[in-house]
Amino acid sequence: MQVNVVEKKEGEGAGIFRRMQYEISNIGKFDQYGMEELRREAFRDFVPFLKKYKAQDIIDIGCGRGYESKFLAKRGFNVTDLDIQRRQTTIVQKSAKEKRLDIDVILGDAIKLPVGDGKFDAALSLAVMVAFKSDERMKAVSEMERVLRSGGLILVILASDDKAYSIKLRNDDGSVTNMEKWQFSEKDMREMFQNFEFLLLKKVTVAYDKNFWILVAKKMA
Ligand SMILES: C[S@@+](CC[C@H](N)C(=O)[O-])C[C@H]1O[C@@H](n2cnc3c(N)ncnc32)[C@H](O)[C@@H]1O
Repeated sequence: MQVNVVEKKEGEGAGIFRRMQYEISNIGKFDQYGMEELRREAFRDFVPFLKKYKAQDIIDIGCGRGYESKFLAKRGFNVTDLDIQRRQTTIVQKSAKEKRLDIDVILGDAIKLPVGDGKFDAALSLAVMVAFKSDERMKAVSEMERVLRSGGLILVILASDDKAYSIKLRNDDGSVTNMEKWQFSEKDMREMFQNFEFLLLKKVTVAYDKNFWILVAKKMA
């Protein structure tokens, strides 16, 4: 199946989300095709690990509208939200204020995080690296590792590759190309996160019969 993409310029830099907002014509908008269900499932798995490893300081990289951070802040975790799009960080700031939740919000890039080494007990990357080129993805993974304390946890959601979909992108010059690899096998996941100890890797099927990986892993000492 092919997915059509409509782009909108968002500024310079790496990562397709930065340059475009996309609509997936025959699946529906992102949040309608199972993200909420997936997020619920991921947190059912992840929160017990946060408690087990006494994780308190959490960064959500590519936080979008901050659904995860609000969920975590309400449960007493210290949360920092980071996104590359100002409109997302503005939305999070506004809704955190309205709900009187104490959430730090940073405008920044997943491949060059503007935070120091070892600052967090856990890092989230939920449906963010999907649009990265492979070198960006590797940088983003090593940035997650860098900002985590030894033994820190990650929660990652990425699409699995057992049903291949191609996403066509319209480039700045009007040409159309296939989006780079955005679905991953188990081997890809294990290679990508080889510096982490896997605590849980599971495949979840959500709306429209789409499969995603939920990964919980621990930074090695
Ligand atoms: C599909 S949304 C997912 C949002 C959120 N994690 C969730 O699960 O609802 C992807 C988010 O990643 C952000 N993003 C994309 N590239 C990024 C980058 N290089 N650095 C930081 N955020 C990025 C986008 O702006 C967008 O908010």
